[in-house]
Amino acid sequence: MARKKIVAGNWKMNMTPSQAVKLVETLKPLVASDDVDVVYCVPAIDIVPVVEACKGTNVEVGAENMYFEEKGAYTGEISAEMLVDAGVKYVIIGHSERRDYFKEDDALLNKKVKKAIEAGLTPILCCGESLEQREMGVTLDWINLQIKSDLDGVAASDVANMIIAYEPIWAIGTGKTATSDQAEEVCGAIRRTIAAMYDEATAEAVRIQYGGSVNAGNAAELFGKPDIDGGLVGGASLKEDFGKIVNYK
Ligand code: PGA
Repeated sequence: MARKKIVAGNWKMNMTPSQAVKLVETLKPLVASDDVDVVYCVPAIDIVPVVEACKGTNVEVGAENMYFEEKGAYTGEISAEMLVDAGVKYVIIGHSERRDYFKEDDALLNKKVKKAIEAGLTPILCCGESLEQREMGVTLDWINLQIKSDLDGVAASDVANMIIAYEPIWAIGTGKTATSDQAEEVCGAIRRTIAAMYDEATAEAVRIQYGGSVNAGNAAELFGKPDIDGGLVGGASLKEDFGKIVNYK
């Protein structure tokens, strides 16, 4: 069975609530697609107005982060249940900016993945190597370790339905996109890791995105690769170009 492509915008810390609604309105006609799943992962404060603005469209809304505890004394955090109640369907977990600036480690991310799934959210689990790791030749070992740790104890049926985003850190926000061959090599390796951890059917089902300076000019080549099932898009998701990325064909 062919995997449906999924293109998700990662707005990061951009767009006030009123700017967010304007952007959704501008993009509405441009991102319409039957072939591709479209998601906007937005800042927490934009979730409620963006869910409202996306009603009746093909776009689903995602969060950029969540906490694994159900509720209680965790000042500043947002629970999976809160996201679900607000109409959120996806959640980015383990973006390299969270790993780096907010010191999120694999043990924490594993708890977040499990909680997201338990609550009914689809995780978009991010992994990726630094430039130093790539130059040292340890990219595949590193990604393998991240995937194995972050998915520890997660059931095959849940992995089959989730999203993994391969985002080389050196390609994020730098304009330096991985070549389609580099991206395909790692996305294929991730699929083989999933096959080894679970089985072929799970590996064939899981959708693996590429992220890192995806734009209107390179989306078609990247998404044309057999193991790349779409993209996680930062900078270009805030512009009309996002419509071209969704409709890359
Ligand atoms: P970029 O960001 O497209 O701006 O490189 C991608 C991401 O960080 O998800």
